[in-house]
Amino acid sequence: MSQPSLLERLGGADAIQQVATALYARLLADEEIGPLFTDTHMPMQRDRLAAYLTEACGGGAHDAAVSLRAAHAAHQVTDRHFSIMASHLVDLLEELGADPDAAADFLDLVAARRGDVVSHSQIAGLPELSGAPGLVQPPG
Ligand code: HEM
Repeated sequence: MSQPSLLERLGGADAIQQVATALYARLLADEEIGPLFTDTHMPMQRDRLAAYLTEACGGGAHDAAVSLRAAHAAHQVTDRHFSIMASHLVDLLEELGADPDAAADFLDLVAARRGDVVSHSQIAGLPELSGAPGLVQPPG
């Protein structure tokens, strides 16, 4: 019998949707992160995040080609923002009662995308280097 996917272990697409909803509620209420979403249509953004994560966890038929690097390039997300977001995620997975092993795997999956989300504009002027992750490292 094949192993259950991470999506199944987390409780399926509905559970991911719940995570996306709860995460954005926390991020909007966070005084450092909230302002980054001032111009964002949140219901649409929540659905995009949920679709992306569902796909990444082994679920749906979303367009996996979405480039996180391109999507975040203009938004000046710092390493600190990313770490704050991750700590909200840790708290809410616990709050929602996610299986601890599945939650740990999910956090690894999100953490692996740090380099695509955190802004590389310190070296602005370079074209987007999608397809070459790791070529340009965030400072420090
Ligand atoms: C502190 C961390 C993060 C911040 C502040 C942030 C912020 C943003 C913003 C401002 C947008 C653009 C929304 C718009 O169109 O107005 C965006 C798009 C998006 N973000 Fe993030 N993001 C963060 C982390 C992540 C992570 C960890 C993931 C996935 C693992 C993610 C997935 C996405 C996706 C899928 C989109 C939409 C891409 C598209 O279809 O255009 N984000 N994010």
